[in-house]
Amino acid sequence: MSQNSENSQPSEALENLLHENRKFPPSAEFAAQALAQPTIYAEAAADREAFWARQSRELLSWSKEFEQTLDWSNPPFARWFVGGEINAAYNALDRHVEAGNGDRVAIYWEGEPGDTRQYTYAQLTEEVKKAANAFEALGVHKGDRVAIYLPMVPEAVISMLACARIGAIHSVVFGGFSAEALRNRIDDAEAKLVITADGTFRRGAPSSLKPAVDTALQAPGHTVKHVIVVKRNGEPVEWVEGRDLWWADTVEVASAEHTPVPHDAEHPLYILYTSGTTGKPKGILHTTGGYLTQTAFTHKYVFDLHPETDVYWCAADIGWVTGHSYIAYAPLVNGASMVMYEGTPDTPHQGRWWEIIEKYKVTILYAAPTAIRTFMKWGRDIPAKFDLSSLKVLGSVGEPINPEAWIWYRDVIGGGKTPIVDTWWQTETGAMMISPLPGVTATKPGSAQIALPGIEADVVDDLGHPVADGQGGYLVIRSPWPSMLRGIWGDPERYKDTYWSRFENMYFAGDGAKKDEDGDIWLLGRVDDVMNVSGHRLSTTEIESALVSHDAVAEAAVVGAADETTGQSVVAFVILRGSALVDGVADPQIEQILRNHVGREIGPIAKPKRVLVVPELPKTRSGKIMRRLLKDIAEGREAGDATTLADAGIMQVISESLKKTP
Ligand code: WTA
Repeated sequence: MSQNSENSQPSEALENLLHENRKFPPSAEFAAQALAQPTIYAEAAADREAFWARQSRELLSWSKEFEQTLDWSNPPFARWFVGGEINAAYNALDRHVEAGNGDRVAIYWEGEPGDTRQYTYAQLTEEVKKAANAFEALGVHKGDRVAIYLPMVPEAVISMLACARIGAIHSVVFGGFSAEALRNRIDDAEAKLVITADGTFRRGAPSSLKPAVDTALQAPGHTVKHVIVVKRNGEPVEWVEGRDLWWADTVEVASAEHTPVPHDAEHPLYILYTSGTTGKPKGILHTTGGYLTQTAFTHKYVFDLHPETDVYWCAADIGWVTGHSYIAYAPLVNGASMVMYEGTPDTPHQGRWWEIIEKYKVTILYAAPTAIRTFMKWGRDIPAKFDLSSLKVLGSVGEPINPEAWIWYRDVIGGGKTPIVDTWWQTETGAMMISPLPGVTATKPGSAQIALPGIEADVVDDLGHPVADGQGGYLVIRSPWPSMLRGIWGDPERYKDTYWSRFENMYFAGDGAKKDEDGDIWLLGRVDDVMNVSGHRLSTTEIESALVSHDAVAEAAVVGAADETTGQSVVAFVILRGSALVDGVADPQIEQILRNHVGREIGPIAKPKRVLVVPELPKTRSGKIMRRLLKDIAEGREAGDATTLADAGIMQVISESLKKTP
């Protein structure tokens, strides 16, 4: 499913996949009621800026009208909706209440143990106002950073929107990240406030979060003044007097009167850290007006959202960009009713998702291919026990979806009738960029197909020339888009280098792609050192750094190996230090020890599936590790062309040594 890091030629499996030629035109019934009409592409192409300006005015309530749609006078630094003023929380909440929709359910929340909560728009607005007052009372002001390290509880959305309301910049850290990863992110953003919980429930058992915050804040020199703690699983927690505050004693008791102040269209909304090609995660910066415009637009048209009748469920975690754009912001800005689920799909049984869909009559489901492939493995009998007939549109995100999983999704979950929207985008793009439009596009299993209206995507060769239909290359975006990242927190140079220097005047996404005979785009996975494991972005370099930070490790190389369920899996090759060997033999536990070490340094999601101890690593004469060859081994192939290796015999040595490993 993925690319190796040294070229962009699709693998053989992908070549077969690209011969997929089934097409599923929209049904007449769906097309008749669809919000998107085929003319939308031409309308957008005729005048992109006018198109986005119109969307922005239609979808959002501006406190002050913008004067200029796009300022691109200083590329690659874009300014959208210049001069406009807007409040994101007002757009997500208050205005729906003012419009008479206060009684509509905003969130149906389902806890893993089966407890539930429900918030109407009026109630959610009230909660956010209280949180805004509480944060302000703790000295959090416009422009300050707030770290949010929470499980999938409504307080996560409430906290994010409360920050947006007062102009504070949130930095949500995925609850699966370790104390160390959390500390790096808190430090880089210089957060003043941390919002966390005692813990959550994972596979039927309590699982803790607060201890990671305590560990992260042990080191001196951080900027955190207060920690607000949501009580979720009731497990005992350590307490730092003067610093720690319960949510119930701070937020719930605060006043529910709060007037939102408008912020500049380009006021920072949030920072979200994501893995890049170097060890240090990048703080991707998003701002307000353009971000809200494109997330709301895509949510409405790609899911064909009818907010009065639809029940929408995005099964992502709030800690990733999908949870930001398509849980915290777009659905609420669009006035939708959504489901939010705390737990895992197999607790207490493997039909939990389908039970939730039946219970809330979910009409739109947005999930990752990894989940679909897992459900396929569990078997179609499980979803067959539930009534899934409410489903109308099914979305996919985070990694390429193989045609087999696509068809299964449509047939087994969608009753053979729902359009599937395979949506390509990234943390950096902020919102969907490439996707079919249900009711318009004849969909193709496995392909995200075409750039959304108002977006200019292309596939280019090494020199930046567009490739012909049927050819592969690199995915680029040719012109600025409203929800594009505005930079990397504290590092404008890295922003230019990473995204805008590979090709002139084009955004380089880091993905390999191909145009098929119809000109439809197929995403082929990363062409850089970023892996995609279960739809989560992980950097090979980051995991390598974690490995070499262990005393036993002299050198490490990490590759993403193709994996049937998770898309890719992390495989590490390590050279041990002499001091870690007894009579030249490694500790039989070393693999487990190193896996746990990575878990502690980054988080359980980054734990290598396998750690292989080798005597040498394959390197070019300039000392660059040839991960391509390691990937061949990790995927069980004969290693490919090794002629550029400094030492041609090395692959033989590695293969021999692995044969000896039990
Ligand atoms: C991959 C997630 C194929 C891609 C929203 C991208 C996809 C990276 C798709 C971004 C898709 C995302 N088809 N690949 N529909 N969607 N990707 O930042 O490699 O966590 O660059 O954002 O996921 O991951 P991120």
